[in-house]
Amino acid sequence: MSETREISGSERSLIAVYPGSFDPLTNGHLDLISRGARLVDHLIVSILSNTQKQPLFTVEERIRMLQEVTAHISNVEIDSFDGLLVDYAARRGANAILRGIRAISDYESELQMALLNRRMRPETETIFLMAREEYSFISSRMIKEIITLAGDVSSFVPQTVAQRLREKFPRTS
Ligand code: PNS
Repeated sequence: MSETREISGSERSLIAVYPGSFDPLTNGHLDLISRGARLVDHLIVSILSNTQKQPLFTVEERIRMLQEVTAHISNVEIDSFDGLLVDYAARRGANAILRGIRAISDYESELQMALLNRRMRPETETIFLMAREEYSFISSRMIKEIITLAGDVSSFVPQTVAQRLREKFPRTS
């Protein structure tokens, strides 16, 4: 017969890092943050700052937007990192990495990343949440393409992001 054991609050504490480029932040990201924050004790949303890609928004701009849209969620913190994600997770005392999966096309690269991260730091588990259907087709890459072609992205991103995109690309509606 299995024995039950009281688990103390501190043993249970789950700190997760939700890493990403968030360039720009989409409604899909925001949904994942809200749902992730309900599952863990503390959620650190962290922007990768040493990417080779030419970003649309600076890290500081992305931090500000993320702070604005998550201000009402008390256990969410916004940060940035460079270097290896697992090293950053270790520095922050995080025991989990949160990632979203939209379609089967995300699975291959996410699996590779999760397995590499697990090999490098086995004590950090990757937790996947499936994107909600209504956000499963939204990606930052497509948002960038639409906005640079003067399209309207206001139904795909939070209002504050749409506003800043309009300021950056004044030709759009
Ligand atoms: O939103 P993105 O661009 O898909 O996020 C990718 C990210 C930031 C999670 C990934 O590139 C990353 O973790 N980079 C940090 C460098 C690292 O740890 N690489 C090894 C794991 S694959």
